[in-house]
Amino acid sequence: MKLVYEGKTKNVYELEDGNFLLQFKDDVTGEDGVFDPGANTVGLTIEGAGQTGLRLTKYFFELLQEKGIPTHYVSANVQENTMIVKPAKQFGKGLEVICRYRAVGSFYRRYGAYAEEGQPLDGFVEVTLKDDERQDPPISEDALVMLGILTNEEYKQLTGLAEKIGRIVKDALSEKGIELYDIKFEFGKVGENGDITLIDEISGGNMRAYKNGRYIEPLELGRLLLNGE
Ligand SMILES: Nc1ncnc2c1ncn2[C@@H]1O[C@H](COP(=O)(O)OP(=O)(O)O)[C@@H](O)[C@H]1O
Ligand SMILES: [Mg+2]
Repeated sequence: MKLVYEGKTKNVYELEDGNFLLQFKDDVTGEDGVFDPGANTVGLTIEGAGQTGLRLTKYFFELLQEKGIPTHYVSANVQENTMIVKPAKQFGKGLEVICRYRAVGSFYRRYGAYAEEGQPLDGFVEVTLKDDERQDPPISEDALVMLGILTNEEYKQLTGLAEKIGRIVKDALSEKGIELYDIKFEFGKVGENGDITLIDEISGGNMRAYKNGRYIEPLELGRLLLNGE
């Protein structure tokens, strides 16, 4: 097993059969010991964060599979905090696609002159570059195409998929009385045809979820959603 990438919250290994293995760590993003799903640095370590992140990811990726949405998911081993996935090629050095249902986080920081904090946003989709050094800058469709990162057709597919997946996650949370404010996805190109596919993870670490107006921490999200699983 060869370590190919050491990320902030996961390590990535290449397996002999060509698949990748994601090892979930207890490190979470944030600053000065405070968790923040939008941060680009490891802020703290929470015991159990890796396992809860993996269990939530397994739960959501299996739900997406049932709904016929293509993902990189192959299998998960909850005892070992690992997940086997199909290897993906990134768009450029990686993109993040954010679906927003309320004006919070970086959206509100940028557009606060025009938006009320917490204002409903109806699944607004936004793409950012994965670039920690430059604080993951938002990027337009025109700029993505001009810089050769993707085509117009790929942009349409990517944002359409994000919207659809965001809706599925939002509805799943809603069944437990939890409201999704925003969520971040990653996509890559998988297989010989380079099919645009959801990769990475879906967990409390990349969304903001609230219950009765109170923010739900990643571990609590696990307890609320995975009860009995
Ligand atoms: N199927 C996949 N193929 C290739 N890379 C992937 C796949 N799924 C996730 N990744 C990448 O693996 C890394 C996971 O580790 P993570 O700690 O989340 O990294 P980061 O610090 O970049 O967020 C991410 O860079 C993500 O883009
Ligand atoms: Mg990550």
